[in-house]
Parts: sequence; structure tokens; C-alpha cells
Amino acid sequence: MNLHSIENVCETFMGAKINAQQNSGSEFVRAISASSHCMYARSQNPLLHPDLLFHMSSLGRQQARYLATVHATSKEAVEERAQQLLHDKGWRARIPILDMLIELSRNDKDYGRLDVREEIAAMLIVEKVLMEQKEIFGDSDRPATYRDIQEMKYLEMVIRETIRLYPSLPVFGRKLQRDFDVGDFVIPAGANVMFLAYQIHRNPKYFPDPEKFNPDRFLPDNVMRRSPYCYLAFSAGPRNCVGIKYGMQAIKGTLSAMIRKFKILPGSTPLSLQYKIMLGSRTGFKIRLESR
Ligand code: HEM
Repeated sequence: MNLHSIENVCETFMGAKINAQQNSGSEFVRAISASSHCMYARSQNPLLHPDLLFHMSSLGRQQARYLATVHATSKEAVEERAQQLLHDKGWRARIPILDMLIELSRNDKDYGRLDVREEIAAMLIVEKVLMEQKEIFGDSDRPATYRDIQEMKYLEMVIRETIRLYPSLPVFGRKLQRDFDVGDFVIPAGANVMFLAYQIHRNPKYFPDPEKFNPDRFLPDNVMRRSPYCYLAFSAGPRNCVGIKYGMQAIKGTLSAMIRKFKILPGSTPLSLQYKIMLGSRTGFKIRLESR
């Protein structure tokens, strides 16, 4: 999880400003990132897959310590916030989700070389995104409202296409509670099944010319023509991501603020993907910002 996301989630959910980007060394921020590193290290070592062996290993004990820090800090934030809310009855412009939950419970409820055509296509996509922003904001640099964000339909298609090619969780899984019939064979209850979102998103049967970046794949008509289970950027079905709306809102708000002020240009680092539970880049993502 990057520092901006940690900061964003803490502020929205707990009403806690942690300034992760400045305090990247804070115990809480380090514990979040270290515990996800432990998850990744475990996934790479089959000996540590059984819970019993993992919990007995030094990695398992390390992860338990990091998780204890994360849980203790979150618990402290919940308690502190609950105390503040008891004394704070005034109107607030932004209500953190944690506050709402407390209130409810109280009421008892490689970018490589592009050929010229691709480059023109990419420029057209950028133009369309900018036109949409212009239609919504004109020349104003005011912050985006909830309603503005709902109107950023093309930007949302661009984001959906980006996370089709680079899903944050390229692989995730489920443990079967019942036998599962898949045509000629049955996967028995208790088996762990992995969903390879990165590969499914590149299946030409569902996404023709899959390496091509084409936001139009997410035009409503095109989405209707596909099974909802071939796009797993937020998972699908009854246990899909509960943060879709919030995540989308946060990304659209952040991008809108950036692209209205800056041209975003590629930096010098070629994209080198790395899987550590989350999909990331081995070398970071260098970009150049030029004032508009
Ligand atoms: C663009 C941002 C996001 C993406 C791409 C994303 C993606 C996903 C995916 C693929 C899953 C399924 C994981 C699995 O079943 O193993 C998931 C689950 C989940 N996500 Fe997100 N997520 C995003 C943002 C968020 C945010 C902002 C929150 C909350 C603040 C959130 C909360 C959750 C939770 C709680 C689950 C587990 C749901 C369950 O198993 O019942 N997500 N997310």
C-alpha cells in the first residue's frame, strides 16, 4: 500500500491525519508496510503456507508483532475518536466513515516504445480526459465535489482500463466450502482456488487485443456484453471489494486535481513490474510534472 493510500484511508475512515508521506518512518506506517511484506514472503515459501508452521516461524511471529501494532493503533484511534464525538456535536464538513460507524453503533445499529498510431491514440485519450475536466470545471481550480466526481465518466473508464492491465491484486483466492463442479471435474471442498486476475484480464476472448490500452472497453454497452466475472480488479460476486466506490472516488479526486494543474509526463524509469501481494513497480514510478 503506498503512503498516499494509507494517509487517505486513515483520514476518511478514522478521521486521523497521519501524514504518512511525511512520517514514512512512523511505527504505524512501517508496521502496515512490514506486515504486507511478511504476507508476500510467506506466499513465496510453500513451507510456510500451513497456518501452524507459519505461526511457529520467525516470519509468523514478526507478522504477529506488526499486526499487533496496526491493531493497537487503530483501536486507539477508534477509542480516541469515540471520546471526541461524545463532546463534538457540531456540523462537520467531512464525516470520517469511522465516525459514522461509531454513531451507528451508538444508536444500536514497461511503458516501452509506442508506435505512432498508439501514440496518437494515447494523446486522444488524454485530450478526452482533459475535455471532460474542462466541461465540469471550466477554468476554475476549485476542489472537486462529490457530484463533479460522478460526472467524470471517461476518467473512470481510463482508470478501469488501467487496473485491467495492472490490477492492484493480480492474484487472490478463496477456500471452497462446498465441492465445485467445473464441467468434467469437481474441485473438492477445502481446496484453495486462486483467481489470476492479471491473466484473466488478458484473455482475448473477453478483451480483444488485450495489451492495447482502450478505455472504450468500459463503455456501458461493452460492459453489458461481458460476463461480470472476467473483470476482477475489484473481485466480483458476494465477497467483492467493499471499497470500490471509495477507492474510485479517491483516485478520481486525486487525478482530477493533478491533471488540471499539471501535464503528467513519463519519467526516465522503464516500468518493471513486481508482485508482492499487491502489484507494484520494482523501480518506483517516476513521472515528470509540468505546470499547465
Ligand atoms: C482502487 C482501489 C481498490 C482496488 C483495486 C481493490 C481491490 C480489491 C480486490 C481485488 C478485492 C478482493 C480480494 C480478495 O477477495 O481476496 C478487494 C477486497 C476488499 N477490499 Fe478493496 N480495493 C480497492 C480499494 C479498497 C478500499 C479503499 C477499501 C476500504 C477502505 C477496500 C476494502 C476492501 C475489503 C474490506 C475487501 C474484502 C471484502 C471481503 O472479502 O468481504 N478496498 N478489494
